[in-house]
Amino acid sequence: MVPMDALKLADTAQSANPNKNYLFDDLIARIHRAPAQWRLIVTVGQPGDPTDDATIPWPEGREQVDAGTLTLDEVESEAPGNCRDVNFDPLLLPVGIAPSDDPLLSARSAVYSQSFTRRAGEKKEPSAITPSDVRK
Ligand code: HEM
Repeated sequence: MVPMDALKLADTAQSANPNKNYLFDDLIARIHRAPAQWRLIVTVGQPGDPTDDATIPWPEGREQVDAGTLTLDEVESEAPGNCRDVNFDPLLLPVGIAPSDDPLLSARSAVYSQSFTRRAGEKKEPSAITPSDVRK
């Protein structure tokens, strides 16, 4: 995902900002000003390119396909539970997408399932972030 409006280096100087939520607050303000967008760039591998170790970069110059744009133009709080009751298992894939032989995928699938099962059984406090917090 390649940001179309990348974080400016000057913004990172705010890390000394006393408001520890400045990235969170800034994202909300930014999306109210204009959509945040990323391009989905797919790199096409060649036979022999490693698919089982994400720490080994593929050689330079591989064909790249611009597969579309992700646009975030609305902010929602988590209060209605819209992203809470989701398992982010990387092996739950849509038709047409197959997993690689990267062993991290099945390791992640197993720990996400365990994590999801544990948090699904926890008592839920009301969200600290309400719908009005993201409408400011
Ligand atoms: C390419 C590497 C990885 C990516 C892109 C990734 C991405 C993610 C994402 C998007 C979430 C959901 C975050 C959220 O709830 O907002 C997540 C959760 C989580 N990740 Fe990863 N992750 C990666 C590697 C790993 C590894 C190696 C482990 C441990 C073996 C791991 C353990 C977890 C756990 C335990 C959760 C919480 C799952 C749940 O309760 O639903 N992740 N990860």
